[in-house]
Amino acid sequence: MQLSTRTISSVLMLTGLMFIGTQAFAEARIIGGTQVSEATQDESYPWITALLINGQASCGASLIGTQWVLTAAHCVTNEETGVALSASNYSVVVNDYDLGTSSDGESRTVTEVYVADGYDTVTLDNDIAILKLSSTVTSAPITLMSSSDFNALSDGTSLKVMGWGNTSINRDIYPNILREVNVDYANFTTCKNQYAAIGAAVTDNMFCAGGNGQTDSCQGDSGGPIMQLVDGTYQQVGIVSTGGTQDQSCAALNYPGIYTRLSNYQSWISSVMAGNETPGTRSDDESNVKDNEAIGSTSSGSSSGSLGGVFFMLMLSGLWGARKRRVSV
Ligand code: ARG
Repeated sequence: MQLSTRTISSVLMLTGLMFIGTQAFAEARIIGGTQVSEATQDESYPWITALLINGQASCGASLIGTQWVLTAAHCVTNEETGVALSASNYSVVVNDYDLGTSSDGESRTVTEVYVADGYDTVTLDNDIAILKLSSTVTSAPITLMSSSDFNALSDGTSLKVMGWGNTSINRDIYPNILREVNVDYANFTTCKNQYAAIGAAVTDNMFCAGGNGQTDSCQGDSGGPIMQLVDGTYQQVGIVSTGGTQDQSCAALNYPGIYTRLSNYQSWISSVMAGNETPGTRSDDESNVKDNEAIGSTSSGSSSGSLGGVFFMLMLSGLWGARKRRVSV
């Protein structure tokens, strides 16, 4: 198939704009919440897990089986390639409360990292990963909400999100003690359109919650659970993933937090926990390497002064900026 230079230019230009827009999206931190009491954590949230990267608390997570932890793919992958990093970089503290107290919770190392097929480092589509722990823990896992219950959620339903993420919208204030906040399940179409207007994708693998300009998850909360209290039991609905605008990454009015839609991954999750999947990322397999090469050759082929080439460069620099900012995620 022969593509005209014009077509290629337009495609690259669009892609470039998309990437620049996505920058607005790159930063994402619990705002407007309250500190959880130790007794509440112990009794009601035994599955809350801190994910440590090289010993440093970096993301939230949740215990979904006695040897399995759920988190965001962007917490456990290379920022540029989306490839899962070595399990040896990671450890977890299940049932953690105070990050500053090493006796809190059950510490385990991670032996395997599983990243969902189609995880996209730019749009954050399929932002979900599962970690296998070095041995079982005794804390109780969280229940995942069924697809039918998810589909029955109505706009305005109160959900709860928790984590050790930033508590400030304009400074870095990272707490040691677990915090929680309630956010409302948001209308999907409204949210999608709102983000589309700034060039960011909200896919069918995501849902939105919050947007009142006051309460939200924030940087450092990623990978942690958002849940609904159903008949006295918390059910996990999603995973903290992203959200925000270029000007304000958390609690930006009308820009809800964006969460991974867990109900879309139930069969994959069961399959991983049954030992039927191979650890790593789709990017580990050959087809994806070839894809990457193809993108590389398109860029050099079109960089001969075409508008598309210019936008491709812009796109890359935009991406670079986004990457740099996402280091603090
Ligand atoms: N990406 C962020 C993290 O890695 C979470 C962002 C959530 N943002 C939001 N506005 N709710 O910790």
